[in-house]
Amino acid sequence: MKLAILIARAIFPDVIERLSVYFDVEANQQDIVFSQQELAEKLQGKSGVLCTSSARFDATLLTRLPMLKAVANMAVGYDNVDLAACTAQGILVSNTPDVLNETTADFGWTLLMATARRVTESEHWLRAGHWDKWRYDYFLGADIHGSTLGIIGMGRIGQAIARRSMGFDMQVLYHNRTSLTPEQEVRANNARYVSKEALLSEADHVMLVLPYSATTHHTIDKAELALMKPTATLVNLARGGIVNDLALIDALRSKAIAAAGLDVFENEPKFHPDFLTLNNVVLTPHIASASESTRFAMANRAADNLIAALQNQRPPNLLNPEVVA
Ligand code: DGY
Repeated sequence: MKLAILIARAIFPDVIERLSVYFDVEANQQDIVFSQQELAEKLQGKSGVLCTSSARFDATLLTRLPMLKAVANMAVGYDNVDLAACTAQGILVSNTPDVLNETTADFGWTLLMATARRVTESEHWLRAGHWDKWRYDYFLGADIHGSTLGIIGMGRIGQAIARRSMGFDMQVLYHNRTSLTPEQEVRANNARYVSKEALLSEADHVMLVLPYSATTHHTIDKAELALMKPTATLVNLARGGIVNDLALIDALRSKAIAAAGLDVFENEPKFHPDFLTLNNVVLTPHIASASESTRFAMANRAADNLIAALQNQRPPNLLNPEVVA
């Protein structure tokens, strides 16, 4: 008899078909974002789940799921999963790193360029019919080339972003839990490790690519924004909660910093409505990894992890190897 699994959100039909070879699959192609109660009900009798960051696996939910053996998160970030509680219950947890590095780094640059060169603001103005003539000072932005890029969170995506800066003759500063090896620093456009404070005060453009956790909560708050140059841009590709959105709204409104590009928000998708009143912010709906091939690769990687976990093999991206030991 096949084990039963839940695919908690809509996904590529090919991946459902692939998983159906191994499992009795309950899919959610209507893409309902299940409440905790609905998740608990849907997961009764299920051995595994393929989920996204909208599903929160906390200790309260897990105690209601004694049969659950594997959580395959289709995301590199896994702040939606209480890893310690899963480990305590013997549940194998996996994520989907690597396959999204380059696509996410591309998008970091997309947001940076759009933000610093005021692309969406000027397009909205044009669409609204305001373009009457060319003027020397319409939509003056900040240069990317020759500027200093500060990257907070220098993992695989941060390094991919840094490599792309070579073509723009930029200097790269970074801040991370640990510094890179000298070889990695050379490959990352000779990136130089500095304190968070030095990075914020010296960089022309700051990109946030660090994982969210209790310790990185509000890495960028009022005090950090106050250190940034008034001409600086801030790009958040990481997770809502890394930036205090209220403090950022104040900084953007008072022009304490020039502009921000945001792909993630506190309480997304219900982000703070005041962002909509500001011209100097570019807003995108958590799409940094959203290229066709990368999302397909992420879904398949999550499927690989789930298949391995429920066939008593080590999932390629196992986050809690203690469970296997
Ligand atoms: C990730 O992979 O963590 C992306 O943010 C999608 O959730």
